[in-house]
Amino acid sequence: MNTRFLDACWGKPVDRTPVWLMRQAGRYLPEYMAVRSKCTFLELCKTPELAAEVTIQPVDILGVDAAILFSDILTPVEPMGMKLDFVPGPVFENPIRSMADVDKLRIPQMEQDVPYVLETLKILRRELASKVPLIGFGGAPFTLACYMVEGKGSKDFAQIKRMMYTAPEVYGALMDKITTMSMEYLNAQIKAGAQCIQIFDTWGGILSPADYERYILPYTTTLINGLNRVETPVIHFVKGAATMLPIVQKAGGDVMGLDWHVNLGTARDILGSAMGVQGNLDPTVLYATREIIEREVKRVLDENADRPGHIFNLGHGILPTVPPENAKFMVECVHRLSQK
Ligand code: CP3
Repeated sequence: MNTRFLDACWGKPVDRTPVWLMRQAGRYLPEYMAVRSKCTFLELCKTPELAAEVTIQPVDILGVDAAILFSDILTPVEPMGMKLDFVPGPVFENPIRSMADVDKLRIPQMEQDVPYVLETLKILRRELASKVPLIGFGGAPFTLACYMVEGKGSKDFAQIKRMMYTAPEVYGALMDKITTMSMEYLNAQIKAGAQCIQIFDTWGGILSPADYERYILPYTTTLINGLNRVETPVIHFVKGAATMLPIVQKAGGDVMGLDWHVNLGTARDILGSAMGVQGNLDPTVLYATREIIEREVKRVLDENADRPGHIFNLGHGILPTVPPENAKFMVECVHRLSQK
């Protein structure tokens, strides 16, 4: 078993920098499209053998140092009582707009309501046993609330922000319920075999630092504190956190996921040596020539300057139109340039 990834999460020294890519299983891979062409995205998430198959694809094809469960952050929201569709972006038919809507949401029984997620993790632990560690994941409460209130992706997030400012009791009740659900969901993943948990707060950066601290931090902190995770590191990725790292750090976790708007070395100086970092190549660099990909990988590694506790990754998910061979070359560059 390649333990480079877990060692780096704990800040231990490694022979070379571990690397994986956010959204590494997906549409840029022809092998994924071949499986996906036979079913919908949700069917794929709910069929453990297929979900396990596409989880392992990037491990074999790219040579990454970790696998991430194939699912979606919105999978556990559906059994809360919200009908979900992907077109391909996520759409909820009946978004949350009132206290009555929040009251109707239920907390799923994980073994009964999302058995396929737990089964996929169990299959993966068996199949990955001699390969790489398995990452489980969930959305941060705020990012889940964004989709549940907006009903779909958004440019201005007017609905969720309006609720936050004008109906704080509804916002608070919703965030409490999502936090409880997420805690139980992630603990079920740990019990089923997830060896690391990544929390995705894709939209955490749309608030001011002061509002992040008031409206997001308490919930993410409660979530991370509630995880049964003595031996399970937590990676906390907040997109757009560059200008508020000391605030986001207060949520806890072992590793901070960084987007590309911050110099990785500067972020490490701010966060201190007790916290690891993950990131932070601009995903669009994977459209560039090999020369530029190598230059940018080297720049990120140089910014880290050999400090322990660095996991190489993109600063956000890989884009669906990236040539797979460029992703593979990036992984090779990380390994070659960081070899001790
Ligand atoms: O990283 C991995 O390989 C594991 C799989 C994974 C998916 N979604 C599969 C997926 C993970 C970790 C996610 C997380 C996720 N989902 C986030 C947080 C990370 C991020 O990218 O910001 C968010 C915001 C979502 C919500 C979501 N799901 C969106 C906005 C979309 C549509 C846009 C898009 O990129 O397709 C999805 C659909 C989705 N989730 C797909 C995949 C492979 C594409 C579905 C398809 O095959 O058509």
